[in-house]
Amino acid sequence: MAFQPPPQVILLPQTQQLKALTTIIRDKETQRADFIFYSDRIIRILVEEGLNHLPVVEKTVITPTGKEFHGIDFQGRICGVSIMRAGESMEQGLRDVCRSVRIGKILIQRDEETAMPKLYYAKFPPDIATRYCLLLDPMLATGGSAIKAIETLIDYGVAEERILFLNLISCPEGIRAVVEKFPAMKIVTAEIDAGLDEKLYINPGLGDFGCRYFGTD
Ligand code: URA
Repeated sequence: MAFQPPPQVILLPQTQQLKALTTIIRDKETQRADFIFYSDRIIRILVEEGLNHLPVVEKTVITPTGKEFHGIDFQGRICGVSIMRAGESMEQGLRDVCRSVRIGKILIQRDEETAMPKLYYAKFPPDIATRYCLLLDPMLATGGSAIKAIETLIDYGVAEERILFLNLISCPEGIRAVVEKFPAMKIVTAEIDAGLDEKLYINPGLGDFGCRYFGTD
């Protein structure tokens, strides 16, 4: 049976445009310049959709015709938090939409001894606990680093329901792991793939996102 994402998951509208963009970045023949360009386009759509899930309050303004317009305003302040290194690819997309947004960083790697994700570095805006956090990582595979990153944000005082996790490609294993641990958090994802292979890559996926985006091995 096809995977039914839980309600915490916001899947981008599966438009032909999005499908065409993800087809390009999934193609192993796609060269780096195109990989960056088309990933950036998807990141932009993800960020725009993410902003739709932040709370708003009513706001009335006076237009130049002297009339009232009953609109809305975002309720709180936001910040980005990128999971290094691949998540750094999403920072510019966030900056393009949210002028002078503060961006924290978090580095998590596998501990050689325990094989568990280990926190190596975290740097956040000092008032992060009062902000809504857009957590950035393009691939949600096992969910191991995401869970460690979310635990770290919670340790710094960020409420689970104030975290919005943005990623390009996810899979049922990662979604289940994250949602089970943090049911109050939302995930915004562009596509949900079939699952993980034996090397824990997402299938069909797109390979190693960080290496393709940053041009490394
Ligand atoms: N990270 C990646 O870059 N690709 C995967 O398939 C899984 C994790």
